[in-house]
Amino acid sequence: MRRRIVAGNWKMNKDHREGARLAQELLDGLEGGDPVCEVVLFPPYTALPAVTEILAGSAVRVGAQDLYFEERGAYTGEISATMLSALGVSFALAGHSERRHVFGENDETVARKLRAALGAGLEPILCVGELLEEREAGNASRVVETQVRTSLEGLSADEFSRVVVAYEPVWAIGTGRTATPDDAAQIHTVIRGILGSIFDAEASSLTPILYGGSVKPSNARELLDAENVDGLLVGGASLEAESFLSIIFPA
Ligand code: 13P
Repeated sequence: MRRRIVAGNWKMNKDHREGARLAQELLDGLEGGDPVCEVVLFPPYTALPAVTEILAGSAVRVGAQDLYFEERGAYTGEISATMLSALGVSFALAGHSERRHVFGENDETVARKLRAALGAGLEPILCVGELLEEREAGNASRVVETQVRTSLEGLSADEFSRVVVAYEPVWAIGTGRTATPDDAAQIHTVIRGILGSIFDAEASSLTPILYGGSVKPSNARELLDAENVDGLLVGGASLEAESFLSIIFPA
């Protein structure tokens, strides 16, 4: 059976004290509940140690929002996958749309980051998604296909078994404009097909594909019910325990 994952990407929000507080509030809110999904938090780097410590021994896991593909050396400002893994981090985002579009990362960089994450024993979440003009030109599937193929082609079956994919249409991120469940289902089904053509259908049927982009308590249920949507990658609505818990336990 496919795993279901609800992840909160805090982006550049919450210092280590605020992050520890939010992690504790989430733990308290999860107590006694029985989430049907895995819960993963993506704090900023500086909050990773505090949040990891608070969540130790719980089922909630921690991920990094980015990483650099080299292991060590003269790369001022960067953090390697092995450094993250040494902290007890389990996941890393690779190719978030803000990394691609604000910081100029391309598919090749993303592919190297994804491989570095796998090499350090992390589970990478490969983020893909088209710009508004690409969607309006009818190119959404093609853009996503290139992003998926460049990052994943050449992985071994074992490496692929640890990959999670997140579809985050750029026009839906932080805009309040959400893809409809049908929009999400359509691209998620395209992604599942691409994975099946690179690897095999059975392996690709096990890959969780998350949706991200203006997810809120009011639309979480319908998105989670859409075909081939196996979870959610939540930005703004993961910054308060109450709204994130309402997404983990959707009405
Ligand atoms: P929002 O939920 O704030 O639109 O952000 C989505 C996102 O980028 C998660 O990684």
